Amino acid sequence: MTAPLDDARGRLIVALDLSSVRDAEAMIERLGDSVSFYKIGYQLAFAGGLPLARALAGAGKRVFVDLKLHDIGNTVARGVESVAELGATFLTVHAYPQTMRAAVEARANAALKLLAVTVLTSYDDADLAAAGYALGVSALVTQRARQAREIGIDGLVCSAEEAAGLRSLIAPSMALVTPGIRPAGTQAGDQKRVMTPARAIAAGADYLVVGRPILEAAAPRSAADAIVAEIAAALTARG
Ligand code: C5P
Repeated sequence: MTAPLDDARGRLIVALDLSSVRDAEAMIERLGDSVSFYKIGYQLAFAGGLPLARALAGAGKRVFVDLKLHDIGNTVARGVESVAELGATFLTVHAYPQTMRAAVEARANAALKLLAVTVLTSYDDADLAAAGYALGVSALVTQRARQAREIGIDGLVCSAEEAAGLRSLIAPSMALVTPGIRPAGTQAGDQKRVMTPARAIAAGADYLVVGRPILEAAAPRSAADAIVAEIAAALTARG
């Protein structure tokens, strides 16, 4: 059985939103064994971060490649194969049925888990209408969550506020991965809807993505340890 703190540590994903591999490596070094899971997104991936993803996976860390794939099915499939070969644990795709089907098929038996992004959290109903959609955010999130489940996607990225509602729509085995996490007393920055780690776990989140509250902390390692302890307590309370 996994010890509660190890289980909690495995649910904290630190977003390496940094502009160079050198800065990322320095942060990883500072965090040491307080963090076991890292997210690499556009900024770092396009600045040489993919070899770092491979190296991290080879060193026993887990890696979330957050490149939100969306293209013709064949291109998505080949991209998924390459990310699986890097040794990544999570990869995001946009929740369009054709894209999700191509990704699930290409992932085949690889250990890679696919996460779907239903509707970007920067979109509101007016943005969707401007992009030509008849549905509003809530209806489109619901529709895409159901489609993700039917297609065999492994989890969804969602705000902690959406987590409780989505839990009932998706398979119990599907993971809910939530950004917008702010420990009590830290700056929200540009995040509009934030939740503490404890509340997000209570709302049904399985993994928490945290960037600035750790990257910009005076003592990043202590900040990560405090979040892990908060997750562990919330998991115990959730039962
Ligand atoms: O610094 P902060 O903790 O706000 O970082 C959150 C991370 O989660 C960033 O990498 C951001 O791109 C990502 N994210 C988000 N909201 C979403 C999807 C991803 O903040 N809806």
